[in-house]
Amino acid sequence: MTLPKRSYKKVTGLALACSLLLFSCAPKEVPQVNLIPKPAHIEVIGGYFKVDSNLVFGNEQSGMIRYVVDESFGNGNPEGYELNVTDKGIELRAASETGLFYGEQTLRQLYTPKGIPCVSIQDNPRFPYRGLHLDVSRHFFPKEEVMKLLNVMSYYKLNTLHMHLTDAGGWRIQMDKYPKLTTDVAFRTESDWQKWWDGKDRKYLPEGTPGAYGGYFTKEDIREIVEYATARHINIIPEIEFPGHSDEVFVAYPELGCTGKPYTTGDFCIGNEKSFTFMEDVLSEVIELFPSEYIHIGGDEAGKGAWKTCPKCQALMRRNGMKDVDELQSYMIHRAEEFLISKGRKLIGWDEILEGGLAPEATVMSWRGEEGGIKSARMGHDVIMTPGGYMYFDFYQADPKTQPYAIGGYTPIKRAYSYNPVPVDSLTAEESKHILGVQANTWTEYIKDEKHLEYMMFPRALAVAEIGWTPQEDRSWEDFKPRMNANIPVLQRMGINTFTLSDEIETTMEVDTLRKEIKVMLDAEKYPAEIRYTTDGSIPTASSPVYDSPIVVKDSADIKAAIFRDGQLQGTPTEKKVDYHRGINKPIHYNSKLYSGYMAGGMNALLDGYRGGLTYLDGRWQGYLNDLDCVVDMGEVTDIHKVSSRFMQLIGPGVFQPGEVELLTSEDGENYTSRGIIPTTVSNTDKDLSFQEYTFNGDWKARYVCIKAKEVNKGFIFTDEIVIW
Ligand code: ACM
Repeated sequence: MTLPKRSYKKVTGLALACSLLLFSCAPKEVPQVNLIPKPAHIEVIGGYFKVDSNLVFGNEQSGMIRYVVDESFGNGNPEGYELNVTDKGIELRAASETGLFYGEQTLRQLYTPKGIPCVSIQDNPRFPYRGLHLDVSRHFFPKEEVMKLLNVMSYYKLNTLHMHLTDAGGWRIQMDKYPKLTTDVAFRTESDWQKWWDGKDRKYLPEGTPGAYGGYFTKEDIREIVEYATARHINIIPEIEFPGHSDEVFVAYPELGCTGKPYTTGDFCIGNEKSFTFMEDVLSEVIELFPSEYIHIGGDEAGKGAWKTCPKCQALMRRNGMKDVDELQSYMIHRAEEFLISKGRKLIGWDEILEGGLAPEATVMSWRGEEGGIKSARMGHDVIMTPGGYMYFDFYQADPKTQPYAIGGYTPIKRAYSYNPVPVDSLTAEESKHILGVQANTWTEYIKDEKHLEYMMFPRALAVAEIGWTPQEDRSWEDFKPRMNANIPVLQRMGINTFTLSDEIETTMEVDTLRKEIKVMLDAEKYPAEIRYTTDGSIPTASSPVYDSPIVVKDSADIKAAIFRDGQLQGTPTEKKVDYHRGINKPIHYNSKLYSGYMAGGMNALLDGYRGGLTYLDGRWQGYLNDLDCVVDMGEVTDIHKVSSRFMQLIGPGVFQPGEVELLTSEDGENYTSRGIIPTTVSNTDKDLSFQEYTFNGDWKARYVCIKAKEVNKGFIFTDEIVIW
């Protein structure tokens, strides 16, 4: 199916009103339409507009589509459109070419072999910025792959691709003034980023070295990519990292780092004016290539350590009365902004650019949660929301046991879809206007090839498309799920190696302390899904109950649930242990320190009935930087026969099993008796996500129940929940 060259007819509002097609479809079959993003207003009328099998939209001979550009349409929103399909014809109108383009994408999505369903659609996006980000530094992806992504993005009305072009993994864009950036540091010794990064002889290699891994975009490649994107109404925002994440630059040009030596730093020397010459030269060449109003200057995770002792940086700090190194970073970002403004462009950066003072007109990309975005919006700065817990597509999208190795986290599509970029509880309506939109980031440390990249991005990118476009009040997971499922084969037809959704069952819990019970809800991302379950830990069979309403647990249940298709169990059953146990809501006292970043909602997190899931970021797991030593007060001396607690390990981000867990009990709170010590069975070098439950069985009288978990590896220990019977 090809799209037409359009011949527009410009009409006034009045003429347009007179020229509306007045045909209607006879009452017929009302088909299910699977549009993503869901339009702002849609009426499916019933019946189809019949089309030839070799349909060419707007074919002059058939005159099937009437295009109208009406500059006053939709208050001039350049992306809005109206589409009327009747059994007699198709009319598409918009204020601009972009609006018509989006109307055509809707038509492409509506097309079926039976014809185009008769619909009346009035549509425009919720946000002007709907983006994906791609890291081409850690692993390089050629222009053909970028174009493939652009094609799919436009089909789903995503309008921004943020290209992370430079980082320690390799510099990826030809620069005429600094040729060594591509001849010397665009290739490296090892394709596997982790192996290379951790390796003793981590090195870049000259272009052309046999076996070297890497690549870069020539200026001609970039021009082609930009042209391809522009034709699809997508803006490409280039990112060049300053002042951190720039290790490769100082191998090619060591004089730009504080040490003057290669392989010793990742940060530009701010006290050296040559750094600014480099920045302006590079940005000038970038501006020439990319028409984007926004230029991304990075700004994240600078080490800043070398600045503290560098004579040049220290001298600059003294001259300018700066009180800390954050102000050095801010100085560089301010200068970048002045330069970009002088060229008619705007600066955008990661939320660390707030540190040391935000540049006057900067737009902030909030990735460390939403805090940076909220703070910036309150200060009157524009914001793109891209928080790690929802919008990092390098995170796992299903149980890590079933997935290719990833950086960590756990963001199934349902969680991604649940994200609302406007933090309504934190911003006023006026401040919220600064939230320009949403973006998902795909960092590629662990993503080595195109297939894996597509697998991580899709179908989650469809959630981003809908978050960015559809009014919040019209979005629901239940409504999105069937449409998203229907789009899996569509993605496959576009050649995308999409994740085809998980057979896992999602369990959510509602603890009711008045009724002393826990309701358990089951859900699947596949649709339709026949979910069958057991509550006694046995494997569900084709005759186990079908899930159709919440399961009520008044004591203990070991729920196992799975999808069944044609009587066959799909995948591995998902297990969830649920206990309305005797420790719920009992007071707890900590003899050790809680880590404030991982309180899991507060002091009663270990005794709230909710069990942590597959990521320590889910707000259920409580984290500690040293030992855990806590005491639960049961209120009176009681008979206790089972105590258990569960810990996780994920060594990538530094989460380890404790060396051992000890249970102690006491009747008076003074004299404690050890009831046993259980050592960990998980190796501290096992890099996979794993869990261990430490269960103590016995017959004890106690009022106080003490759990001690010993830290043996430097890092975090994480636990949830302490179950007491
Ligand atoms: C980032 O993830 N360092 C922006």
